[in-house]
Order: sequence, then structure tokens, then C-alpha cells
Amino acid sequence: MNSSKAKRIGILTAGGDCPGLNAAIRGVGKTAIVEYGMEVIGFTSGYSGLIEKEFVELKENNLSGILTVGGTILGTSRVKPFKGVKDGDNEKPELIKQNYHELGLDALVCIGGNGTMKTANRLAEEGLNVIGIPKTIDNDVWGTDVTFGFDSALNIATEAIDRLHTTANSHQRVMIIEVMGHHAGWIALYAGMAGGGDIILLPELEYNIRSVCKKIEERYESKKAYSIVVVAEGIAHPKETSAASHLAEAIQTYTGIETRETVLGYIQRGGSPTPMDRILATRYGAYAAECIAKGDFGTMVAVRNNELTTVPLVEISDKLRLVDQNHTLIQKARKMGVSFGDEYL
Ligand code: F6P
Repeated sequence: MNSSKAKRIGILTAGGDCPGLNAAIRGVGKTAIVEYGMEVIGFTSGYSGLIEKEFVELKENNLSGILTVGGTILGTSRVKPFKGVKDGDNEKPELIKQNYHELGLDALVCIGGNGTMKTANRLAEEGLNVIGIPKTIDNDVWGTDVTFGFDSALNIATEAIDRLHTTANSHQRVMIIEVMGHHAGWIALYAGMAGGGDIILLPELEYNIRSVCKKIEERYESKKAYSIVVVAEGIAHPKETSAASHLAEAIQTYTGIETRETVLGYIQRGGSPTPMDRILATRYGAYAAECIAKGDFGTMVAVRNNELTTVPLVEISDKLRLVDQNHTLIQKARKMGVSFGDEYL
């Protein structure tokens, strides 16, 4: 642990964007400036700004008026500086270290998801004072109970499902809605439950079409006019089609019931953060500045049982926080007749 007093700090946002990034930048920046008298710069376009030495000075007035704004004022990218290192290409990590020192930085705040935390850990191993802040709509960063972006995406997905109920009912159709989540089904599970989905399919749970169709037929036979299927994009399906299209075709073929699909896509990542995400991102940001002041580096800020804490970056690298097959919400859902497509495996 390095306890040198930080004076000048850099912030970057990397990976896919999500609502709440600006709230986090503001939380770090304002606390650093107002409480600790630090200087703050923001690197543009994720790790690419750090490699190219492209940055903006962030003064307190630049940080006003951004709390409610979606996306990131700094821009983002999925640039991975350590990608070529195992083949002997060390240029990008070397440039980063050089730029960090030339800019007189005492600490670097990396706001991002799993990929960003992995890179942040590598930079910490290279000797930089790094602190991570977890964000992603997917809510799958290991080491914390929740990431900001998730609540906003959940609200958007739930509203979409609410709207599908009325059109599904009018036409007596099966409606499939595909939400984001390649590896983790948090959005599908939570939005599926909040939106009253009849069938919820998650990447973490094996499913088969027979179980899905049987559930739809049972509902049809018991005079339930329509069915809502909420599916995460990452469930097993042929690569050449979307999860929703694959299911729609199979359901219509096997049940003969008219079926339609909606892929929600990037709408889930856009727009203003919910109040919960604004608060979470602000708490994370302010706490990251406190950690810098204390010299607590090589860590990611996290929430455990609603308490702010830090987790060593080295513990997070390469792990994902997935939905447990016996998650309490899944257990409750099953008891209410919700299908997870695995009854006849
Ligand atoms: O941010 C996570 C995520 O939203 C995933 O759920 C999604 O599959 C992925 O990003 C797609 O992002 P992009 O097209 O920006 O790489």
C-alpha cells in the first residue's frame, strides 16, 4: 500500500457506456477538488486517452450539470493496452507509464466493467496507483453487490415489458423480449420478474425448447390469452441469429401460436440514470477520492451489504458475478409458476 499524499489525479471511463458514468466522474472530481484540493484531469476515450496522452483538465465548473446526463463526458472505448504484451509488444503499457509520470499523476481512477478492472490490475502491477470503480448494466462485476447502470437498464427493460403486455394481450400472441447480458442474466431475471414475465431464460441456466413450448401451451389451454418470454442475449442459440429470433421461430413452429420478438439493444444503455444509479455512482466516486487521499490503491471500490468497502483488484481479475442457479428470486419465481425453460430437460 502506497500512502503518499495524492495531488493530481486522472480519471477515465472504459468499456461499454452506461447511465451513471458522469455521476461517478462528478463524485470523484468534486470530492477530490473540494475536499482534498487535488487537481483532476480526465482522459478521453478510455485507455486510448492514456496511451495517446489525450485529456482534459476537469475543474469544478466542468463537473456541474452532468449528474443527470447519460453516457460519459470523457468518451469511452474498448481499447486493451495489454493485448499484445504476450507476443512481446509492450509499447502501450510503456506509453501509459511514461504519460502517467510525465503528467505528474499521483493516482488513476478507472471506471469500467470486468475488462477495465483487469487492465486496472495490470497497471497496478506495473506500479501505478490505481483505483477502480465498477459500472455495467450487466451487474456482473465480481467483488461488489451491485454496479451502477444496472438499475437504469432494469427500469428501461421493465417498462418495455410492461408495454409488451398490452399489445400481446390485444393480439393473443407470444411476445419474446431479448435483453442484454452475454454471460450474466441479471437484467433478464430482475426485469423478467418486475415485468411479470411467464418464461425467463438466463445464460446461467440450461433450457430446452420443449419446456418453453409446454409452458406456453399450458397457458393457452388455461385461457391465458398471451405469454411473455424474457430472454438474455447470451442464452445458447445458433450464432447466425439472435436469441429472440431463434426462440420466436421455434415457438411458432412447435405451438402454432403467433409469436413476435423484440430486441431491446442499446436503448438499455442510453439516457439519464435513475436516482438509485445517481446515488450509487456518486457514493462510489466520492469514496474513490477518499481512498486516494488515504493511499488505498490497487483496489476497486465496492458495496457489500450496502456498506462501501474496497476489494483488491487482483482478486477481481478474470472473475464474473453470475446469477446463482438457486438465487432466492429464482426459487420464489418457480413457486409462482414462472418457467425457466428447464422443467423437461
Ligand atoms: O456493457 C455490457 C454490454 O451491454 C453487454 O450486455 C453487451 O452484450 C455488450 O455490452 C455490447 O456492447 P458493445 O456493442 O458496445 O461492445
